[in-house]
Amino acid sequence: MICRNSLASTMIAAGTALLFGGFAFEAAAQSAPLEIPWVKEWASSAHARYTEEPFTHWDAEGAVPPACAQCHTTTGFQDYIGEDGSPAGSVEKPHLIGQAIACVACHNAATRTLASVTFPSGITIDNLGPEAICMTCHQGRESTVSMNKMLDGFDEDVVSDKLRFRNIHYRAAGATRYGTEAKGGYEYGGKTYAGFHLHHKDRTVCTDCHTLHTFRVDVVNCASCHGDVKKPADFRSVRKSAVDSNGNGDVKEGIAVEIDDLHGRLNAAIQAYAGKVIGQPIVYDSHSYPYFFADKNGNGKSDEGEAIYPNRYKSWTPRLLKAAYNYQFVAKDPGAYAHNPAYVLQLLYDSLESLSGKIDIDMAALKRP
Ligand code: HEC
Ligand code: HEC
Ligand code: HEC
Ligand code: HEC
Ligand code: HEC
Repeated sequence: MICRNSLASTMIAAGTALLFGGFAFEAAAQSAPLEIPWVKEWASSAHARYTEEPFTHWDAEGAVPPACAQCHTTTGFQDYIGEDGSPAGSVEKPHLIGQAIACVACHNAATRTLASVTFPSGITIDNLGPEAICMTCHQGRESTVSMNKMLDGFDEDVVSDKLRFRNIHYRAAGATRYGTEAKGGYEYGGKTYAGFHLHHKDRTVCTDCHTLHTFRVDVVNCASCHGDVKKPADFRSVRKSAVDSNGNGDVKEGIAVEIDDLHGRLNAAIQAYAGKVIGQPIVYDSHSYPYFFADKNGNGKSDEGEAIYPNRYKSWTPRLLKAAYNYQFVAKDPGAYAHNPAYVLQLLYDSLESLSGKIDIDMAALKRP
């Protein structure tokens, strides 16, 4: 009898854990005689970190609002994909706090047939496999389309207090993977951009590189083709492209290093334009919303007291916003170099080129892939 009871309670606790993740999981794990496949791997993943900011941000409000619940709660995700019987493509109500991304977010009747994803640009990609699940959350919240909508009718170099920084949001890997097919970056008019980055026909969906169910990128997934990859830090040394994007003559350095170089140059160019053309210096801080602040002492660094919301940058011109948008797009996808190196290099190049119309940048040295 005792056995049956404890088994039953474990099953209830495990069931709750599979439903909500988070706190209920710990209770289940403590007494679990059941071997549920993948529980350990999942529990070690970021999706189970229910005490972290992506899951606790709404604790004071007491509920996760519809606009956020799609990606930050299990039940909100089910709501969005229509698993709860409500229309697919929208979240109808606020959802419970304290949830993580549990098994039943990704495994239910609706995800079994989920084959398309609509990106913030409004563009829908069809005929997808299980990676559609990932990209329903890892898709960002802004696009070329939302940017152009805001910027319509404003002069390129005229400051307006009606303009504000638009944030791609975080880890929008799906938007990076699909490039111009999703339009997650800010794409300048008259330019063409790389589409989906195939990578390799057998290594092309999220879980080819991100191991089930830890969702970390493991070296064993790379070494068969990239022989020099022996530890995670080596991902950044992988190089196939022959295009010397930063023009330093080195086409052996990791593609991640080329991207970092152009990204750094873009930060410098953004600062130069804000200081010289607008006359209000700007500074970026990756940890503080909304990321770009007035650089009060003009030293180019984020100092104590500068990276606070009341001091957010307010002297935007369209040209500066586009460049800042792309700077953040690259900053917030730490896997961009593997997800779609050509697309992000094009975004960085074009942002620099746009700013070079107003400040001094040596574009001749740089190559657009
Ligand atoms: C389309 C999916 C999606 C939507 C909608 C969404 N988020 Fe997120 N958000 C994410 C993802 C993915 C991350 C993961 C970041 C990471 O890996 O650290 C994230 C991270 C965050 C973080 C943590 C940032 C950090 O630095 O750790 C906060 C805070 C956040 N989101 C707030 C919000 C708010 C507020 C809303 C609603 C207004 C919202 N999100 C809507 C996908 C989304
Ligand atoms: C973030 C999404 C996500 C979460 C959370 C998740 N899975 Fe999965 N799972 C996947 C994907 C993607 C696959 C592989 C594609 C497929 O077969 O549908 C998969 C495959 C599986 C498989 C079949 C593959 C195999 O080799 O065993 C099982 C069983 C499974 N998951 C169980 C679980 C359990 C149990 C949990 C919770 C502890 C869980 N999953 C959490 C996305 C997820
Ligand atoms: C319901 C929304 C949702 C789904 C579906 C989802 N994710 Fe996530 N993912 C998140 C959120 C939110 C975070 C941030 C969690 C944290 O930082 O604790 C995250 C974090 C991650 C991280 C770690 C990022 C970091 O900052 O450490 C990886 C990698 C990841 N997801 C990959 C995937 C893959 C691959 C899939 C599909 C199999 C997937 N995700 C499906 C919402 C989702
Ligand atoms: C070609 C291999 C590859 C593919 C395919 C791939 N990724 Fe990644 N991803 C990476 C690498 C490499 C990193 C950087 C990992 C690191 O630094 O440990 C990364 C980073 C991430 C991160 C941020 C993790 C962190 O620690 O901050 C997320 C989230 C993510 N990828 C989600 C996805 C999603 C969703 C897909 C499918 C749409 C996907 N990835 C497809 C290789 C890949
Ligand atoms: C089956 C073989 C194969 C595996 C396994 C593989 N790759 Fe690749 N990878 C390639 C090929 C081929 C290219 C060149 C693709 C192209 O340029 O179109 C490439 C390109 C890349 C690039 C871009 C290099 C550049 O200069 O543009 C990165 C970064 C990368 N791979 C990382 C990874 C990581 C990280 C893993 C493991 C998670 C991995 N790859 C696993 C075959 C593979």
